[in-house]
Amino acid sequence: MQFDVKPSTNPVPEAERTALIAQPSFGSVFTDHMVMIRHTAEGGWQTPLLTARAPIPMDPASSVLHYAQEIFEGMKAYRIADGSTVLFRPEANAARFRQSAARMAMPDLPPELFVRGVEELVRQDRAWIPTMPGGSLYLRPFMIATEAFLGVRPAREHLFMVIASPVGAYFSGKTEAVTLWVSQTYTRAARGGTGAAKCGGNYAAGLLAQAEATRNECQQVVFLDAAEGRWIEELGGMNVFFVRRDGSLITPPLGTILPGITRDSIMTLARDMGMSVTEQPYAFEQWRADAEGGEVVEAFACGTAATVAPIGRVKFEGGSFEMQSGATAGLVTETLRRALFDIQFGRVADQRGWVH
Ligand code: COI
Repeated sequence: MQFDVKPSTNPVPEAERTALIAQPSFGSVFTDHMVMIRHTAEGGWQTPLLTARAPIPMDPASSVLHYAQEIFEGMKAYRIADGSTVLFRPEANAARFRQSAARMAMPDLPPELFVRGVEELVRQDRAWIPTMPGGSLYLRPFMIATEAFLGVRPAREHLFMVIASPVGAYFSGKTEAVTLWVSQTYTRAARGGTGAAKCGGNYAAGLLAQAEATRNECQQVVFLDAAEGRWIEELGGMNVFFVRRDGSLITPPLGTILPGITRDSIMTLARDMGMSVTEQPYAFEQWRADAEGGEVVEAFACGTAATVAPIGRVKFEGGSFEMQSGATAGLVTETLRRALFDIQFGRVADQRGWVH
């Protein structure tokens, strides 16, 4: 599909951009452009537009503002060693976006159009990719229901957009390892709900739990399952892995959790390295016993934004425990993180067709 390209007539001057991308805190600086594609039930997807980033006028009756019909993705563009710019598994994001759209009764965006929209924005704004080690351009494709209608039914007008933000590390704690708060008050998702969809409402519903974590001086919340309050599901904005003493990995199974692309990539890399990985329900009490007994020695969070972040202390109402790896990444966490970064930053050949 032909893109209507209208570059900004007032881009951020180079010196200012260089300063902005030097040490960006996550998600607070944005590039010059954005992609917009409108959809109507009658006309389908309209001509895509790449234009200067600007506020989007909306009717106050737009469905998204009332019934939260909204989905999004998180992905990154990397500048690799040879100077070119790459995306990591964008087809996987496109596929998940489709699944999220289906769950939220939103129109199906063809994966080629999703990937093309992202590519167009990255091509236009690639000068915004930070040059510091580990820096990347975080991409946020999303779709909102824009029909001005207050009846409760799937909207008939939507807008797909892509915006971009230069980023460094997601966490900015005193140590590399993150501190977790296990919420025994709030849950994230139940069977039949939207836990596996990447919809804004899931994150809105998690904010109070995240605030509880912050109050307890923790960086992320751990959600337990809604039915029994026993099984570990995921963190506020990322998946979680546990490393046993024998080097094998455990991660909670899909169903009510987000099917993370980093999660999937880590499982593949670990298996290719000969590690055993099981997707199995894992109880919080078991984790505590395993950590205290030295059976589980490392744990890490993973996601596009978070990358791979070691977990240090785990707090809950009435107590806490610490992973043996302490304030830094344990050997398995570090090995997997390095393997993933090596592919994403083009330091090793990509044998799996992940680099785009
Ligand atoms: C991501 O890792 O890209 C996410 O979408 C998580 C979060 C920042 C909401």
